[in-house]
Amino acid sequence: MRTHLLALPALAAAGVPVYSNSGPVVRSGDSRADAVKEAFSHAWDGYYEHAFPHDELHPISNGYGDSRNGWGASAVDALSTAIIMNNATIVNQILDHIAAVDYSKTDATVSLFETTIRYLAGMLSGYDLLKGPAADLVDEGKVEVLLEQSKNLADVLKFAFDTPSGVPFNNINITSEENDGSETNGLAVTGTLVLEWTRLSDLTGDDEYARLSQKAQDYLLHPKPDEYEPFPGLVGSSINIETGEFADGAVSWNGGADSYYEYLIKMYVYDPERFDLYRERWVAAAQSSIKYLASHPSSRPGLTFLASYEDHEYGLVSQHLTCFDGGNFLLGGTVLDRQEFIDFGLELVAACHETYNATLTGIGPEQFSWEPGSVPDDQRELYERAGFFIQSGGYILRPEVIESFYYAWRVTGDQQYREWVWNAFVSINKYCRTETGFAGLRDVNAEDGGGRDDNQESFLFAEVLKYIYLTFAPEGEWQVKKGSGNTFVYNTEAHPFKVYSSN
Ligand SMILES: *[C@@H]1O[C@H](CO)[C@@H](O)[C@H](O)[C@H]1NC(C)=O
Ligand SMILES: *[C@@H]1O[C@H](CO)[C@@H](O)[C@H](O)[C@H]1NC(C)=O
Ligand SMILES: *[C@@H]1O[C@H](CO)[C@@H](O)[C@H](O)[C@H]1NC(C)=O
Repeated sequence: MRTHLLALPALAAAGVPVYSNSGPVVRSGDSRADAVKEAFSHAWDGYYEHAFPHDELHPISNGYGDSRNGWGASAVDALSTAIIMNNATIVNQILDHIAAVDYSKTDATVSLFETTIRYLAGMLSGYDLLKGPAADLVDEGKVEVLLEQSKNLADVLKFAFDTPSGVPFNNINITSEENDGSETNGLAVTGTLVLEWTRLSDLTGDDEYARLSQKAQDYLLHPKPDEYEPFPGLVGSSINIETGEFADGAVSWNGGADSYYEYLIKMYVYDPERFDLYRERWVAAAQSSIKYLASHPSSRPGLTFLASYEDHEYGLVSQHLTCFDGGNFLLGGTVLDRQEFIDFGLELVAACHETYNATLTGIGPEQFSWEPGSVPDDQRELYERAGFFIQSGGYILRPEVIESFYYAWRVTGDQQYREWVWNAFVSINKYCRTETGFAGLRDVNAEDGGGRDDNQESFLFAEVLKYIYLTFAPEGEWQVKKGSGNTFVYNTEAHPFKVYSSN
């Protein structure tokens, strides 16, 4: 309840629509953009006071966590958003921090994937923005360290690729240069490195990083054995590190597989010359997904989710994470000028909106299902009304649904999608906001969010507040464009990279 009282005056002050005697006051995109900047500053100030330079704030107890090796994940993840919001104060604080990080030291196991998408990408994106469209924001002399530290970090990590196949280990000890002994690596964690490591090579002129990541990616683009590509373009979920062959044929767009598909089309956006095969594989995957994975709840046949598939059986389970899919179909559809992908993307966006719209908080759950035989009695009403039931009701400040609304707004220009973003922002302010930041929720379909979780993931800064802000912000080089004219492409953590051809 305290969030209620805190959040609403702050929102009103920041220009959130309030009711006057004559009805709702319609505010322009500008004041909505200002309200998002206010939320970002609120979270930054709380983090900076109570948790910096640790990885994340515990926004209820005002303690901190170091879940990402203690290199200041929230600060590095916040950089590109602070640049886009044009806040030189915060950008300078982050640049000073990054210059002081020693990426060779940590007490904990390092995830190659998480470190790449948050730290490496955060720095590379900051470099692209501050060398490009945001060049006036800070002293030029402070920018070069971003590329130097990117190289330092990649040099610490690159031994992970030193395996018989070149498919990396994900969980590594950077002190001993050992690994966790896994026999396989996951599809997403293997297939979500190539944009960052290629960008690093293109910026430094040292092609080693591109070679390492593209060699690993090659096994995903040419999957073996055939049985583990059950539909054209749709592949299994894990890869044998010794041989580079797929180890199963479990297909989905859910967590663990998701950003492999995301990066196929994004690599083509990054450089259509070098990455045309990636486009081909994305198109195959997208067509197969429409044909074989599109699934409609029995109670709401007008809604479309993506099912998973393994061994001739479908799984009718999806996730908040999966809801990037609509935005990804929209990006591919607009870039390739393929209306069928745009249409399908909008169907996916509408169904993910339902997972927000139908709950008591207006925020969607971590995991949900539409398997008609498994509906719990106490969720039958929800299933009949909304077409899904909740399997895991938490919300850890994930961005994917809002991200897809943003793509829908950019590609269609339909104001409805902006309203959906705004409604999500209002709910996040109402239920998640604390005195020092934003907390997760335990049950999005309970009246008060089911209680709050004392953790603020770094992607609140990198993704959630960025996609909301961009929805209401002025045009800019970094905005996603309708058609094929994008000059920036977003990594899976929402860090924008300058596309290669515009160098
Ligand atoms: C930049 O962020 C700081 C710290 O949150 C805040 O106090 C300041 O008002 C912001 N400046 C602008 C121009 O938004
Ligand atoms: C990494 O290896 C070093 C040196 O062998 C060891 O001291 C340390 O405990 C290991 N770290 C982890 C997280 O296992
Ligand atoms: C759901 O959508 C309807 C119609 O657009 C809207 O009136 C309602 O406020 C939404 N509910 C939530 C919780 O967002």
